[in-house]
Amino acid sequence: MLTSDEIRSRFLEYYRQRGHTEIPSASLLPEGDVTTLFTGSGMQPLIKYFLGEPHPAGTRIVDSQKCFRSEDIDEVGDNRHTTFFEMLGNWSLGDYFKAEQLPWVFEFLTKELGVDPSRLYVTVFAGEEKYGLPKDDESVEIWRRIFRGAGIEAKPVHIGDPDRGGEVGMQGGRIFAYSSKKNWWSRAGPPEKMPAREPGGPDSEIFYDFGTPHDPKYGPHCHPNCECGRFMEIGNSVFMEYTKTDDGRFEKLPQQNVDFGGGLERISAAVTGNSDMFQIDTLKRLIDALPGADMRSKRIIADHVRAASFLITDGVEPSNKDRGYMLRKLLRRSIVHSSMLERSENRALSASSGETLERCFGIVCDMYAGTYALDRERILSVFRAENQKFRNTFVNGMRRLDRLEAVDTDTAFTLYESFGLPYEVIKEFGGVKAASLTREAFEGKLEAHRQLSRAGAEKKFGGHGLILDTGELKAKDEAEVEKVIRMHTATHLLHAALRQVLGDEVHQSGSDITVERLRFDFSYPRKLTDEEIRRVEEIANDAVARDLKVECREMPKAEAEKSGALSFFKAKYGDTVKVYTIGDSFSKEFCGGPHVDHTGKIGRIKITKEEAVAAGVRRIRAVVE
Ligand code: ALA
Repeated sequence: MLTSDEIRSRFLEYYRQRGHTEIPSASLLPEGDVTTLFTGSGMQPLIKYFLGEPHPAGTRIVDSQKCFRSEDIDEVGDNRHTTFFEMLGNWSLGDYFKAEQLPWVFEFLTKELGVDPSRLYVTVFAGEEKYGLPKDDESVEIWRRIFRGAGIEAKPVHIGDPDRGGEVGMQGGRIFAYSSKKNWWSRAGPPEKMPAREPGGPDSEIFYDFGTPHDPKYGPHCHPNCECGRFMEIGNSVFMEYTKTDDGRFEKLPQQNVDFGGGLERISAAVTGNSDMFQIDTLKRLIDALPGADMRSKRIIADHVRAASFLITDGVEPSNKDRGYMLRKLLRRSIVHSSMLERSENRALSASSGETLERCFGIVCDMYAGTYALDRERILSVFRAENQKFRNTFVNGMRRLDRLEAVDTDTAFTLYESFGLPYEVIKEFGGVKAASLTREAFEGKLEAHRQLSRAGAEKKFGGHGLILDTGELKAKDEAEVEKVIRMHTATHLLHAALRQVLGDEVHQSGSDITVERLRFDFSYPRKLTDEEIRRVEEIANDAVARDLKVECREMPKAEAEKSGALSFFKAKYGDTVKVYTIGDSFSKEFCGGPHVDHTGKIGRIKITKEEAVAAGVRRIRAVVE
């Protein structure tokens, strides 16, 4: 069986033979790119070359790029999510296009790696009328020829909106056309999320069929983009030939580019035919080095230790903000899960010295020694310092847990907030005291909290500050409580005002409130003008001046959705939700509360800052006076 190292080498060699120059992986910390915290795809370090600047290595490039995607951190633990991965990539910078790219990637997978062609399914772009973007018929024809060459008659099937996929099903197809929700790629996501002058284009993905039975939980029928786990995307050819104009249209770039990315770990899983990605050679070495039997904990550790090793080598240090916060989260979750595994082997919790994890860090350094020079000394010293720091908090949390007579949802949440004890630890170590605690209730509470302080870096492990959630509120004193509530309602007013001024394109993507200020993140492609900021402020303050009534109604979720209330999180809301309405129809949102009862109580709202946080995402800060 091919190892991951061999797959990487063969990929680089295959493209070198086709005139590509190999470049080294760029750092996980993007240079001169403020749009993302981490390098999450192979093309990111190359963005300016798609727009026309000549690359010193020429027009054909190949590499294996270290990538980190923090969005997936909470999914890690199942059989296919990781935060860190290697992306095999090849690029044409205004050189070859579809007719070369698609046959090459197919040949590489089936001939060089021996993947069975009958297991491969592909997708193409179905077109997007509202932007005048045509369907990618050319790729359909190329794929038909390619499959015919492998003795397979490939039938095209039109799905369009992937949400309809479960209804449409496979229909004996091999080439599936989806809308821009699935078959369009840019750093910022689909066309509507792209800021002006961002490059992007239709893409064609390749899926591997593990042949596992369909899980009807995901819809009546399976299809390549179904989430049930039967299909896994192993490669994506992006035809980067468009850019967004200042007035939101799409025009062709001066050159046609190809951006191919394929996850090495996923390709390895396809080569082995095992749908559990943690069984590939690299990750399995870590899984096998861990005690105990809980696969979820083992997968979390295997992923997090590997990711942390690369982040530390690239210069990240644990902190309570941004990149440092992600690293802290990786390290602390690893510590908690290794403590759980050790405990399950009948070792006392306090005896967990970090030895298990140190062994894992050593394995990661050895494993990548021939490819990426990891900084073993630095990794171990950062880990030891963090372990030392966290240990006290963790042990204090465990002591607190010991002293409690019963653990309900609220106390469990406090243990999580203040000491970083996750649900599993509380449930396991709480024993009969935590018998009534359910994961559903705990996560419901967590989600309600997240709505207000999305990934509140300072708060996650620090345990200080305010906790706002459904009906409950904690703060240092009454005055602070009152101020935070005022700012919370001010956030709803600003959100509604932004939509009035900028249009319905504005979607909330994050909110965080402290005693000093409110912070609100929303999707929008460009910087706001001074005039727009002034108008947003004016509309919000006008709503304050009119002293509008704020009302909360509980209703079944389906009814709330029908009423048009805004809800921007993939929240695990229960069947009944709270909807807050301000005035007759000034603002209407799903929300846990709490809020002031009349907008007059808010005081004057002042926007203090407007900035970019990511491609297509803006952030405003505001205060109430
Ligand atoms: N940039 C493309 C992706 O990440 C290849 O899927």
